[in-house]
Amino acid sequence: MEFATRTIHASQPSEPETGSLVAPIFQTSTYEQDAPGVHQGFDYSRTNNPTRARLEAVLADLEGVAHAAVFASGLAAENAVLQAWLKPGDEVIIPPDVYGGTYRLLTRVFQPLGCTVRQVNVANREALAAALNQRTRLVWIESPTNPRLLVYDIAAICEAAHAAGALVVVDNTFATSVFQQPFALGADIVVHSVTKYLSGHSDLIQGAVLARDLAVFEPIKFLQNATGAVPSPFDCWLTLRGLKTLELRVLRHAENAAAIAAALDGHPLVRRVYYPGLASHPGHAVARLQMTGFGGMVSFELDGTVDETTAFVSSRRFFVLGESLGGVKSLICHPSRMTHASIPANERAALGLSDTLVRLSPGCEHPKDLVADLLDGLARLGERVAVGPAERAL
Ligand SMILES: Cc1ncc(COP(=O)(O)O)c(C=O)c1O
Repeated sequence: MEFATRTIHASQPSEPETGSLVAPIFQTSTYEQDAPGVHQGFDYSRTNNPTRARLEAVLADLEGVAHAAVFASGLAAENAVLQAWLKPGDEVIIPPDVYGGTYRLLTRVFQPLGCTVRQVNVANREALAAALNQRTRLVWIESPTNPRLLVYDIAAICEAAHAAGALVVVDNTFATSVFQQPFALGADIVVHSVTKYLSGHSDLIQGAVLARDLAVFEPIKFLQNATGAVPSPFDCWLTLRGLKTLELRVLRHAENAAAIAAALDGHPLVRRVYYPGLASHPGHAVARLQMTGFGGMVSFELDGTVDETTAFVSSRRFFVLGESLGGVKSLICHPSRMTHASIPANERAALGLSDTLVRLSPGCEHPKDLVADLLDGLARLGERVAVGPAERAL
């Protein structure tokens, strides 16, 4: 079965009792038992729920493995992985540009518990090999990364990590299972912020963990129930609904991203475009090998001031200024003032995060409208630049 067919048919038969084409929302906390401990596989909805179980089966199918657990947020999913696999004295390796919430969770929650977090440029094989040691339990990567869309060679990282006895976790949020299948590249665990493309409509917060091996998955599944950060049946149902159009949506997101990258690349008021589909992007060759599309995100550096960047992101017609990504409605973000504002300016500079960097999450609108909106903003900026700084201050 092809991917798009699986999003609609995998583990999604009509409801046997009524023939309902769409599965109902099992909005229940508990279940009637025939005798104490005798039930139909469901005893309490923190432990298991039919709507949630159906979503987990579909997600596992789409990522090509047998095991999935969904959580109340992407970070709750990440927390379960870390709690399951890190003990005091263990080390975890992350690249410098890991998602800020992951960095905060590791350094503010797990480091004080006795774990060591090592930031390593995992693209550099020697640096990764030198950092891996017998205490390394996990190597945690995203690809493409946020917000510069760097691409890491997942297979090479898995090979090095496995040789040292470490597990590899891939956050597949940006690429999605449509464009990237990390298990086929050697990953042990995949996490998603389901909040983004998988649910796809900016209307819920949810996370998922997937694993190939039962031994890797079991402690994570245990924590899903033991710590209880589970999503509601309604949110699971919304994600099931969103997944049915995942491929359609993500292909449109990617088409829009490509059109925008092409329009911005070389524009006189754009210093640099970050998009893995551009041949000039440093991760382009690896992206071509390990992805089947370049994803839906584009970032770029304005050739202007911070104030001009603020004005640009605040006055778009179709790009709503807001955090998050991966929804049908386009979003625009100014990382240095929003998602990455908590990182000190000197550290942002060391990470290559310019204060005029703009991150775009093109939605599913028509590419012409999105490109026109951005070019219009640049044209207005051009008029202001032409006026000159003294007059602009008036
Ligand atoms: C790459 C990535 N991973 C994980 C998360 C955390 O997910 P959530 O916001 O659903 O907790 C985010 C959120 O922005 C993200 O961008």
